[in-house]
Amino acid sequence: MYFPDYRPRRLRRTENLRRMIRETALSVDDLIYPLFAVPGTGVREPISSMPGQYHLSVDKLVEETAAAKDLGIPAVLLFGLPETKDELGSFAYYPDGIVQRAVAAIKKSVPDIIVITDVCLCDYTSHGHCGLVKDGEVDNDATLELLARVALSHAEAGADMVAPSDMMDGRVAEIRGALDDAGYSHIPIMSYAAKYASAFYGPFREAAQSAPAFGDRRGYQMDPANAEEALREVALDIGEGADIIMVKPALPFLDVVSRVKQEFDRPVAAYNVSGEYVMVKAAAEKGWLDEKGVVLEVLTGIKRAGADIILTYFAPDAARWLKD
Ligand code: PBG
Repeated sequence: MYFPDYRPRRLRRTENLRRMIRETALSVDDLIYPLFAVPGTGVREPISSMPGQYHLSVDKLVEETAAAKDLGIPAVLLFGLPETKDELGSFAYYPDGIVQRAVAAIKKSVPDIIVITDVCLCDYTSHGHCGLVKDGEVDNDATLELLARVALSHAEAGADMVAPSDMMDGRVAEIRGALDDAGYSHIPIMSYAAKYASAFYGPFREAAQSAPAFGDRRGYQMDPANAEEALREVALDIGEGADIIMVKPALPFLDVVSRVKQEFDRPVAAYNVSGEYVMVKAAAEKGWLDEKGVVLEVLTGIKRAGADIILTYFAPDAARWLKD
């Protein structure tokens, strides 16, 4: 049936009609809020490359997490900036390390929120790469055991879920094995399965002080031109035991989000990364974009593409706006 018999505008006339036929419902239940833990106490230091985000000492991180819980946000994702870095990223699995302390403190004071930890070495290595460097290259197999140690140390500290973001081959299986052997078979793995070598991570690397000191991450993160390869990566991670699969970044890869959702039977997460966040922030600050409208449209778009879960620095604002 065509115009004039079929008139799509009939169902757009009022908000109630629009509400009734709306296909995608963005909810606070979908959101994960990433946070940055730093040493010290009483620290709430604005991150210059990410307006509205902070470096938080453990006490402040607990406050921020409690506020997120009160807004109905179901989960936080923790990154840590350690006191010291070394060639091997040893402080990533130190039992008294920054993330381990943060996890324990949150689980003690705000037990009713999911604490997910980012499992990677790049915040902890002096060279800033996500694995061990041998002869100028990141050594995949030598890195696996360290990643498993990091994940295990997070689980021991009380983490509810671990999220490996390093893009080494075989790390999900290695981590799954280590967790299972130590009695943590109930701890899920959210794998950064299709993680692209993206220029949109720029602000985060300043925030996490994790920019590589030499070279780049294209030897392990994916080429942004590839989608078929993303499906192979996802298939491998599911085969190795990933419970949730992530596509990252979100906006330049919505086609990948959509295909992963259609082709695989696992919850899909998409990471609305630091560069996507600051584009909106900068334009809103200049008065060029309406922040609330754009953020809700972006997050709804990511959900519509197929994401069940969205990691976003906008989580608290979005939670507030979704209540209005
Ligand atoms: C660590 C990691 C990165 C991000 C999440 N985990 C940076 C990177 O891979 O360089 C990026 C997050 C963001 O940009 O918001 N490997």
